Amino acid sequence: MVRIVRATLKELEQAVTALRDGELVAFPTETVYGLGANAQNPAAVRRIFELKERPADHPVIVHLDNPKYLHRWAREVPDNAQKLAARFWPGPLTMVLPRSENVHDVVTGGQDTVAIRVPSHPMAQQLLTAFGGGIAAPSANRFGRVSPTRAEHVREEFGDSVRVVLDGGEAQIGLESTIVSFEGEQVRLLRPGFVTYSQLKEVVGDVIIGAGAGAPRVPGAKQSHYAPLTPMSIVPVDEIDKRAETLSEGGRRVAVLAMRLPLKTYTSVTWINAGRRPDSYAHDLYSNLRALDKAGCEQILVQDVPSEEKWTAIRDRLARGAAVGGAAAESDPYTETGGYSVLP
Ligand code: TXA
Ligand code: MG
Repeated sequence: MVRIVRATLKELEQAVTALRDGELVAFPTETVYGLGANAQNPAAVRRIFELKERPADHPVIVHLDNPKYLHRWAREVPDNAQKLAARFWPGPLTMVLPRSENVHDVVTGGQDTVAIRVPSHPMAQQLLTAFGGGIAAPSANRFGRVSPTRAEHVREEFGDSVRVVLDGGEAQIGLESTIVSFEGEQVRLLRPGFVTYSQLKEVVGDVIIGAGAGAPRVPGAKQSHYAPLTPMSIVPVDEIDKRAETLSEGGRRVAVLAMRLPLKTYTSVTWINAGRRPDSYAHDLYSNLRALDKAGCEQILVQDVPSEEKWTAIRDRLARGAAVGGAAAESDPYTETGGYSVLP
């Protein structure tokens, strides 16, 4: 379906006025929807934390329309950051860099670094250009929940408490940006996303995976990030039918997210076939989880996904979604193997 993704002048004007008034504006990006505030207005940024019920020590990403403004926000820009910016911006990459003095503590969680991204979504670009400054924005969901990939998801999360929600259609990618940090020129991959480890390596040579021991703040380190409300577990590929059948015995409602159709029809099982293509699987993942969450089921069973690189970001989000309430909460972040445990 072709969709016009540019905002009207009136929409833009409303959004820019809201930002200048210190209000929040939800806007589409190519990854997920963001909940934005004027990054130079600490009170406005604080409202994001209040509305999301997000702890103050979780810093937010500053969005810019052009890499040329990087120096206003980062006091040092390593050569490798320049190279990554040239290759992947505008796009789904966030870089954590030493912050410049004028970046507010509320944006950085008091850390000495700031996360920056130049999104490619035309409506995000329009908004940033019209506003003429940095927009601080986390994903537009309540803390720890599934990120929104459509404007209606944002309304579901926040109702009318966000003055302006720009509707740019479905997010093209559907998963949050890849996040990297730097120790000098050394690049560290903190959160996997559409830009893969191999793609980063092609540009900078060497990339370390996962947060370092002394790292102050790991993106989504809290394992229960990106979680539906219904308990979710990962099931080995060949066992998904059997598990759905046994679990739904006696009419218990079960939700399934699989890569194929069920082998037969099970009453009381809501089954989504998300297919075998990583891009479309990712694109639909959060909508699918929202839909399954609403199906009134006791459990969401997710058929395990392949371990090839194109599935890494998907595996990461599924693992976090499945970790809710588990002993793993607040433990190991992303690891090379995908930090993944499949149900025995
Ligand atoms: O695709 C995305 O990145 C979306 C869109 C809206 O841009 N944004 C997003 O924001 O996913 P959020 O806040 O949900 O996730 C950003 C992550 C957080 O886990 C945060 O802790 C981390 O980035 N982060 C922000 N600033 C950081 C910093 N200075 N150092 C380390 N991690 C940082
Ligand atoms: Mg988020």
